[in-house]
Amino acid sequence: RALLGLLGAGAAGAAVGAAGAAGVAVAATGTIGAAGGGGGASAYPFFGAHQAGITTPAQDRLHFAAFDVSSTLDRTGLIELLTEWTEAAARLTQGLEVAEGGATGGSDYAPPVDTGEALGLPASGLTITFGFGPGLFTDASGADRFGLAARRPAALEPLPRFQGDALQPERSGGDLCIQACADDPQVAVHAIRNLSRIAFGRASLRWSQLGFGRTSSTSTSQTTPRNLFGFKDGTANLKAEDGSLLDEQVWVQASDSPAWLAGGSYLVARRIRMIIENWDRVQLGEQEMLVGRSKGEGAPLSGGTEFSEPDFEATGVADKPLIDTNAHVRLAHHSSNGGARMLRRGYNFVDGNDELGRLDAGLFFLSFQRTPQQFIDVQTSLAADGLNEYLKHVGSAIFAVPGGVREGEFVGQALFA
Ligand code: HEM
Repeated sequence: RALLGLLGAGAAGAAVGAAGAAGVAVAATGTIGAAGGGGGASAYPFFGAHQAGITTPAQDRLHFAAFDVSSTLDRTGLIELLTEWTEAAARLTQGLEVAEGGATGGSDYAPPVDTGEALGLPASGLTITFGFGPGLFTDASGADRFGLAARRPAALEPLPRFQGDALQPERSGGDLCIQACADDPQVAVHAIRNLSRIAFGRASLRWSQLGFGRTSSTSTSQTTPRNLFGFKDGTANLKAEDGSLLDEQVWVQASDSPAWLAGGSYLVARRIRMIIENWDRVQLGEQEMLVGRSKGEGAPLSGGTEFSEPDFEATGVADKPLIDTNAHVRLAHHSSNGGARMLRRGYNFVDGNDELGRLDAGLFFLSFQRTPQQFIDVQTSLAADGLNEYLKHVGSAIFAVPGGVREGEFVGQALFA
């Protein structure tokens, strides 16, 4: 208990420091040193204008979970669950154990309230981000169990089928989701484990995904990491410092419909298997042509350095475009997609191997955008992407991510108002 008290005080102190800065982006900058350096002691504020875990500098580890709500849950029960999740998340993100006092829940016979594996570990930059899937508003039979059908965002539909999709239902969908990101995998797993445990009897895990090695930068203060194809990933991503572009591209605005989602965003999750054994047999020049950037520096093939703007008009020998017409970065670029951008926040994964002895590896793609249409436009454009020969989309889900939580409220409270 004494140890828990100390841990709590230390973590809370760090949080106060971060919370003193106005807004998520500034708070994030205040803690990047510790998080980026692997110190792990930083804590991001849970309460704020937006949920943490979006523009927060992408942590190194992920545990993502999608839940189905129980058929016996009613509106009151759902509100209770969201309230308990909020209370627990507010504590966990500050490095505290699940419930006040921690150890036994007040009885010698009851199991400990917190499962314990994060005792002694700092907050490790943990963020917990909640989302609501289409099934929360109307279930598969069309029933409106929670009285929310009329408040469903019109755009919150399961994503359309894209060319090449090989989706597995058991890795797709979900009524609720929780994204837990941290710089220590044990801290992220502890969060999902305890939040799942709190949900017992009310919501059960449908699928979940561990991720290591962020595949994006969400702050200009971060160095660009690499994905499992060995390329820098996140160079041209939207970042915390992008100011009004975030309002335009990431945050649902008060003028958008529905109003309860203002300050929130839409989250798309795609489990993308990468056939890395085949990729590893491809020559460097071909790999670079498929991506449209150099592998070492990450510079556009039209020239310059990593952060130079790609010049899609530039041509080389025999008037061939320097950035191929089917290169990933050309097709994904906002100039090919009516201005649509997104904030990418994905992770590498390796989940053992398949029966052919190939690593079950890939990129767990996560993106936040103001409307799902932005993702749909880019993914549709990527139908011509030369990388597709080495990719297989096997999981897909979409969630409406409510705006930030105010102290004393529960996540998504405006939806129930
Ligand atoms: C950029 C890899 C899937 C959207 C990039 C870059 C790489 C990359 C290496 C260049 C560096 C950067 O700007 O971040 C991959 C791989 C994928 C994948 C390996 C699959 C395993 C996707 C998907 C989408 C997407 C599914 C969205 C539907 C983008 C966007 C950019 C980008 C918007 C920035 C383009 C720009 O403005 O220059 N990706 N990507 N990517 N990717 Fe992907």
